[in-house]
Amino acid sequence: MGKPHDGKREGSREPGAWLPVAGEASFDEGQLALMDEIERDLRARLAARPRRLAHSLSVADTACHLALLYGADPFDARVAGLLHDWDKALEPEELLRRAREEGLDLGVDLELVEPLLHGILAARELPERYPMLAAPVFQAIARHTTAAEDMSPLDEVVFVADGIEPLRRESAGIARTRSLVGRASLDDVFWESFTGGIVYVIEGARYLYPGTIDVYNAIAARRARGAAAGNALK
Ligand SMILES: [Fe+2]
Ligand SMILES: [Fe+2]
Repeated sequence: MGKPHDGKREGSREPGAWLPVAGEASFDEGQLALMDEIERDLRARLAARPRRLAHSLSVADTACHLALLYGADPFDARVAGLLHDWDKALEPEELLRRAREEGLDLGVDLELVEPLLHGILAARELPERYPMLAAPVFQAIARHTTAAEDMSPLDEVVFVADGIEPLRRESAGIARTRSLVGRASLDDVFWESFTGGIVYVIEGARYLYPGTIDVYNAIAARRARGAAAGNALK
């Protein structure tokens, strides 16, 4: 039997003080061994990018914590967190080359969406390297950059963890999302994180991917329907 594991890994930071206390994750021997292997691989891959490595470890911790709070699988959350920026080891030109080689079609010039490519490409490459991981792990990795209309709890946990992990400098939007953790539903925490990300893109006068607007509109409509149904019941 594996000893109970408190969800922290060597070299990672304490979770932020704003994170409500969650139960402890307990992993079996096989999961512990696999997490160690993945963390070793990640440390080698991101050796030249210590801040990216620290961010990835912190996302893994935060995702595990959120999974425990909101009922997603803590192992899947942790490994998706570890691996979500796997392809941030690559230069933008290499990401673009691979995206073209894969025939990736996002409906716009790939150079415009280069910052989104690393999640999508990693999700295509990693199943070969880690065939023992579950398909939802790779989906969460793919969706951490683009989100989707039908985000699963695991997708939401990884997306939010990426946005609010304690090493991220606090902005007004990040502070709002952090303040909701443990007090609002996972869907609401994700929505705050997702829309905060859109505001950040707009405020910075950066390119906003049309697919993100489609996701925004689909979820906004669903939330409006849910609110209307809730009011009708009152
Ligand atoms: Fe990323
Ligand atoms: Fe990230």
